[in-house]
Amino acid sequence: MDFSIKPVDLGKIHIATPVVLSPMAGITNWPFRVICREYGPDGLYVAEMITARALVARNPKALRLCRFAPSEKVRSLQLYGVDPLIVEQAARIVVDENMADHVDLNFGCPVPKVTRRGGGSALPWKTDLLQEILHRVVSVCNPAGIPVTAKFRVGIDEAHETFMQAGHIAQEEGCAAVTLHARTTAEYYGGHSDWSRIGELVEALDIPVFGNGDIWGADDALAMFKETGCAGVAIGRGCQGRPWIFADIRSACNGSDNRVNPSLGEVCKVILRHLELLVDFYDGDERMAVHDLRKHIAWYLKGFPVGGGTRKSFMECESIDDVQRNIDALDSSLKLPEQILDTPRGRVRFAKKVHLPYGWLDSRITTSEERKELFGNDPMDASY
Ligand SMILES: Cc1cc2nc3c(=O)[nH]c(=O)nc-3n(C[C@H](O)[C@H](O)[C@H](O)COP(=O)(O)O)c2cc1C
Repeated sequence: MDFSIKPVDLGKIHIATPVVLSPMAGITNWPFRVICREYGPDGLYVAEMITARALVARNPKALRLCRFAPSEKVRSLQLYGVDPLIVEQAARIVVDENMADHVDLNFGCPVPKVTRRGGGSALPWKTDLLQEILHRVVSVCNPAGIPVTAKFRVGIDEAHETFMQAGHIAQEEGCAAVTLHARTTAEYYGGHSDWSRIGELVEALDIPVFGNGDIWGADDALAMFKETGCAGVAIGRGCQGRPWIFADIRSACNGSDNRVNPSLGEVCKVILRHLELLVDFYDGDERMAVHDLRKHIAWYLKGFPVGGGTRKSFMECESIDDVQRNIDALDSSLKLPEQILDTPRGRVRFAKKVHLPYGWLDSRITTSEERKELFGNDPMDASY
């Protein structure tokens, strides 16, 4: 396939290197986004999903997730909800209170707690609901100059695909772009995503399509551009413990072979900076910051020959001093072995079973009964 890598404009947002930090709950809060952005200043960095109802109720945890660092010139939020009126109200808050410059909508989450309420990746099956949510949110955001994008999966399972229709609906309703995670809900995070589906969507739509799934290094990003013709790439697990992937992809997009391969000592500097930012994020609560950092440390250390005892000791850290003490005990000259670079990390399993509301697959249109049941069930938690 012929391909060229060009900047992408979402309304007035110019993405010079068409790479997106894919929203990840519990991970893409502003400290992590700031670190990623420092490696690739001209991409787009999306916050984790925020439940529309929690934002409308002004749940403090949801409000914390809506915060941005001063260095984040483009503030990108992701909303999730099932009830179109509630999602619209959340979008109205974002607009009226100038909370973000870009709104993404989550139609891709595979977590049972979300899909069994008809949300996330279950939702595009109901085309009327998808259309209404998109219509309402675009009607609120577009007049304020805030572009809206939608992120979804291939479908619920291979017998119940939704992506093509979802893409057309998003385009018709005025979305500035879409992101396709090339897996079904049933595939969860297992196996390899099927990039040919991204290529099919690119062929079918006029708006930019961001391809998503299994980009673990810059060469994977180039391969996705080449195989699918996508306008941009979205990076999820590939940046866990490797925020420099954004520098590598930027280099690759500019035709350079430069790649960042930091020593363990350099990685530890990133860990400490990440921790410092997390302390700020948690308003000085060191313990919460260290607890949040633990999973990142596991990813940062992945592939380095540091031993199980050291990893365990990091997982028991409660304070900045604990983290520092563990870091001081490491051999800072260690480098990642070549064969470990750019290999899969994070969640990699298949779903045990897809959880859906009763009778969900019987029709692609919601009945009034279904709507009543679903909307009363819209979650309150800030994220999942
Ligand atoms: C821990 C975790 C949390 C996630 N949270 C979100 C989320 O809040 N919103 C969303 O749209 N996708 C979420 N995702 C999906 C990712 O954005 C991405 O689509 C998926 O991981 C596939 O990309 P990858 O293969 O590059 O990881 C999450 C993924 C993981 C692993």
